Amino acid sequence: MNVLLIGSGGREHALAWRISQSKLLTKLFIAPGNGGTRNHGENVNIGINDFNGIANFCLQNNITMIVVGPEEPLVNGIWDYFRNNEKLNHIAVIGPSREGAQLEGSKHFAKEFMINNNIPTARFKTFDTQNIDSAKEFLQTLQAPFVLKADGLAAGKGVLILDSMEEALNELQLMIQQNKFGNAGTTVVIEEFLPGIELSMFVFTNGVDYIILPEAKDYKRIGDNDTGLNTGGMGAVSPVPFANDEFKNKVEQQIIVPTIKGLQKEKINYCGFVFIGLMNVKDNPYVIEYNVRMGDPETEVVMPRITSDVLAMFVAATNNTLKKFELTIDANYATTVMMVSQGYPEDYEKGKLITGNTTGEGIFHAGTAIKEGNLITNGGRVIAATGMAPTLQAALKLSYEAVDSIQYENKYYRKDIGQDLMGLFISQ
Ligand code: AMP
Ligand code: GLY
Repeated sequence: MNVLLIGSGGREHALAWRISQSKLLTKLFIAPGNGGTRNHGENVNIGINDFNGIANFCLQNNITMIVVGPEEPLVNGIWDYFRNNEKLNHIAVIGPSREGAQLEGSKHFAKEFMINNNIPTARFKTFDTQNIDSAKEFLQTLQAPFVLKADGLAAGKGVLILDSMEEALNELQLMIQQNKFGNAGTTVVIEEFLPGIELSMFVFTNGVDYIILPEAKDYKRIGDNDTGLNTGGMGAVSPVPFANDEFKNKVEQQIIVPTIKGLQKEKINYCGFVFIGLMNVKDNPYVIEYNVRMGDPETEVVMPRITSDVLAMFVAATNNTLKKFELTIDANYATTVMMVSQGYPEDYEKGKLITGNTTGEGIFHAGTAIKEGNLITNGGRVIAATGMAPTLQAALKLSYEAVDSIQYENKYYRKDIGQDLMGLFISQ
């Protein structure tokens, strides 16, 4: 079968690498892809939201499955676009419907879904210009720190955690009345702060059956010891020590099962990944957020640990055999360290020449491109270096050796990925 993968990040490079190993694959195309994905298929220059362009390409190239990497085309309804056109509806889209994508596209929708389905999450209320005074009153009922969330997609920047009431009131005003996050943020979810340790669980489902994939922890801040601005993610580790069988069982029973049942009850078409951001509060899981896709850079540690054929898993979801699909997972630790451009997540320069070991096993390109035959930087996050080994320490050593083997001007990366987890594994 011919497959079209949509996206251009490290997540898509890791997916392309795994899909390219499938026995079911004839040819893989990646739109638009990056300097690394081209080693596992053919990059095609079509934008992720150009649904007409994607449809024409699929028809011309006998594509029978589209795998959607990022959330934006899902929130924009790529699944519905293909499903509702009789010339296209034979093409399977791995990714939820527009309605399902609201689990990520609208924080308010996600919170309502959790409440309706008894899924543990922080207490919340939603506000907009109409009821800003009630928002101020609700804030008074909470204790610091205060959590304010832009309702819509805000490229990972729409969540504010504020230590004082004064800051919270000020930011609320900026979001609702001065469009701090554009239209994505004029509706604001205010919620209770959950103290605990975070991790992410990943589920693959066709809306009826589900498969639980390896969990991961990511490192969101730009600076060592979780300091500085939020980024898309600076590194990741899988497995996560406190995600023992007892905890994972609670996640399955209290969160995953009710989520799938909720999709059915609300008649939401969903054939794709569910990324569940969790807080472990005294050994009890609470949902912080849903994403309707895999994480980046979590995919760069999750895909290397999945040893079964992922394309066969996607096919099983489309022909109702997912229940019988056997997922095999490598017991080794996987760690990834993201190399970024100087200045990221704020302004940065692109176009720096990249040299060194850029095609090795576990080297996943994020923001790279080929220009005049040279590999250059083409984004804030440039390359993720994944290591795998029987211990966390050994995996990290391989990741950092790989980081050292790649050069470009002003390369920056966090030096402390996984350090907070050291020691936590010993008790397991
Ligand atoms: P999100 O974009 O929803 O993942 O939020 C970004 C980050 O804010 C999360 O990864 C958490 O670290 C933090 N966060 C979000 N909501 C809460 C909450 N209710 N309590 C504590 N931390 C939170
Ligand atoms: N690394 C977090 C995300 O992909 O949303």
